[in-house]
Amino acid sequence: MKIICGLILFSTFAIIFVSGLNCWTCNVLGGNNVCRRSGGLRTCFNNQVCYNEVRRRGNTINIRKGCKNSGVCENHIMQSMSTPNPNNQCVNGPNYFCSCCCGNSVCNSNWLTCVTAGSVAPTVSTTVPPADEGLKRSDIINIQDSWNTLKGFGYETVGMLVLHRLFNDAPQTRYLFSQLSLSSNESFTLEQMRNNSRVVYHANRVARAVGRLVDLIELPTNFTDHLVWLGQRHAYHGVAPVNFDYMGPVLLETIKVNLELPSDSPTLSAWAKAYGVIKNGIKDAIIATYAEG
Ligand SMILES: *[C@@H]1O[C@H](CO)[C@@H](O)[C@H](O)[C@H]1NC(C)=O
Ligand SMILES: *[C@@H]1O[C@H](CO)[C@@H](O)[C@H](O)[C@H]1NC(C)=O
Ligand SMILES: *[C@@H]1O[C@H](CO)[C@@H](O)[C@H](O)[C@H]1NC(C)=O
Repeated sequence: MKIICGLILFSTFAIIFVSGLNCWTCNVLGGNNVCRRSGGLRTCFNNQVCYNEVRRRGNTINIRKGCKNSGVCENHIMQSMSTPNPNNQCVNGPNYFCSCCCGNSVCNSNWLTCVTAGSVAPTVSTTVPPADEGLKRSDIINIQDSWNTLKGFGYETVGMLVLHRLFNDAPQTRYLFSQLSLSSNESFTLEQMRNNSRVVYHANRVARAVGRLVDLIELPTNFTDHLVWLGQRHAYHGVAPVNFDYMGPVLLETIKVNLELPSDSPTLSAWAKAYGVIKNGIKDAIIATYAEG
């Protein structure tokens, strides 16, 4: 009798363990939103984990998500952490390819990076903090003055300094710029970056995006609207909110080094506060965009 009970219990557990993870599944040409709209959840076999794959050929992006045998994924990188893993298997260049695997249910659904289910639970905040939260009048003046000085170098130069630092200090962000055809492991000199016209173009855009926010810093409604717009654009490209954590230190360091500011400069602390607001606004907008599907 005891043995039978034991068997029944065991088989009940076995059934629980047999059912696999749920993974988002799609195979589409287009962005992450296309995948989210047209794909669906699938229950994997119990030896499988979720995966994401992004392939670019010319101007076409192919996104595939689904279940994959965990053995295959171990050969790639088993990624179940909340930050983008530098070891994402990525091959840059004209035949860009990037893939990652993760071992929690639905961990591959929202972004193109692999993150745990827990860390993507949308905590949607509909209100973005106002631009002036925590920013004093003196902070705003410090930001505007320092930006005017930086802008004197030219948007392109400022953007290149920011991207140069980002790609070298946080190389795990490179795969987000698949259109720039960056190699995944070398360090770049500014001169090499200047030779890549797409990097130069993007550098300009990054600097103009910062400049636009500085221009709007005294117009809270416009400022907030612009953060929402930036979040939507990044969500469309499958950028996970966590990536904005890398940009803050990079931006601050670029400002500090190029304006030769001491570490305790009030200008830097003003930028740190402002970047906190910017980051939260963009992250909330990314999450809200994904939540809307
Ligand atoms: C980068 O990785 C490629 C392929 O794995 C390798 O051939 C190349 O030598 C690496 N370059 C550097 C600078 O590590
Ligand atoms: C940049 O391009 C120029 C002209 O094609 C070339 O002479 C130079 O070596 C390149 N520099 C780097 C660092 O790739
Ligand atoms: C701020 O937003 C208002 C209303 O949308 C718009 O009319 C105005 O042009 C914006 N100002 C700037 C500087 O973008």
